[in-house]
Amino acid sequence: MVGSASLALWSQSVARTRAGSQATHKDGAKLFAASCAGCHGLDGRGGERAPNIAQTHEVQRLSDAQLTRVVAEGIPGTGMPAFHSLQTSEIKSIVAYLRILQGEDKTPRLSGDPERGRQLFVKVGCADCHMVAGSGGFLASDLSSYGRMHSGDEMRNAITAPNQGPEARTVTVRTRDGHNYSGRIRNEDNFSLQLQSADGTFYFLSKSDVGEIEYSPRSLMPSDYNTRLSSKDVDDIISYLIKAASSSRSDESNSRLED
Ligand code: HEC
Ligand code: HEC
Repeated sequence: MVGSASLALWSQSVARTRAGSQATHKDGAKLFAASCAGCHGLDGRGGERAPNIAQTHEVQRLSDAQLTRVVAEGIPGTGMPAFHSLQTSEIKSIVAYLRILQGEDKTPRLSGDPERGRQLFVKVGCADCHMVAGSGGFLASDLSSYGRMHSGDEMRNAITAPNQGPEARTVTVRTRDGHNYSGRIRNEDNFSLQLQSADGTFYFLSKSDVGEIEYSPRSLMPSDYNTRLSSKDVDDIISYLIKAASSSRSDESNSRLED
């Protein structure tokens, strides 16, 4: 008896939740049309005044909490207004509706395992050169927000078919008084040169002291990851970079909140 009573309760609450979420989606569509479509278009795919928020990976990757914050607070300094007049429940419906619009997009999502990617990032040496979320090496660029700015294909190319240009090389600078410094050039003007060595130390050299600058023949970014890593390894690393970028973003928004 107790069993069937609780079953009845359970199915009632399921029915309520279903009805509730249907109402939510309908409200969401209405609210979206009234508040967002003027700039983002009825389908969320953007217009002259605002970007595509249905199909952009960058926006798809934002968590519900992050989307809620964007709507409630706007993006200061841009054309995205804050919607102070919307209630939390209304924003929730809008976000749920936006997820439906995003779901209609057929672009494949990445299915990598970010946790395995994080381990690989250290194991195969990426972290010797690249910093993510405050840990890693100094030689190459900080990849903390890289996953937010680049598509999966761009990231895959950067890892498996890296750019071999001179900007990716180390230099050795010999000073006139016989010292050698090697690392990467971080800044250069007519009078000075700023060099960062592998351990992160910065050297400021005056051009008048510099005798010779020699570029290493090869890019620092290893060019053999296409053979050393499986396609799944690369997917996992990309998923890790995407995940790291979305948490670095919530840190930024948090600090924005505190301002
Ligand atoms: C007056 C025009 C306008 C309206 C109305 C508007 N937006 Fe925006 N929205 C923008 C612009 C412009 C941007 C791009 C901001 C930027 O440069 O990063 C934007 C960006 C966004 C982003 C992307 C945020 C990111 O991090 O990239 C989301 C999500 C978004 N809007 C959701 C909404 C929703 C939901 C509504 C309705 C509640 C809405 N917007 C209403 C103009 C608008
Ligand atoms: C020996 C140092 C080194 C190692 C190891 C290394 N990289 Fe790089 N990587 C570089 C350098 C140098 C560049 C060129 C531009 C820069 O500074 O980021 C680069 C470029 C990149 C870029 C493009 C960055 C941009 O801003 O365009 C990505 C992405 C990247 N590496 C990811 C990885 C991943 C993932 C691994 C491990 C699988 C890895 N790297 C291992 C040194 C390294």
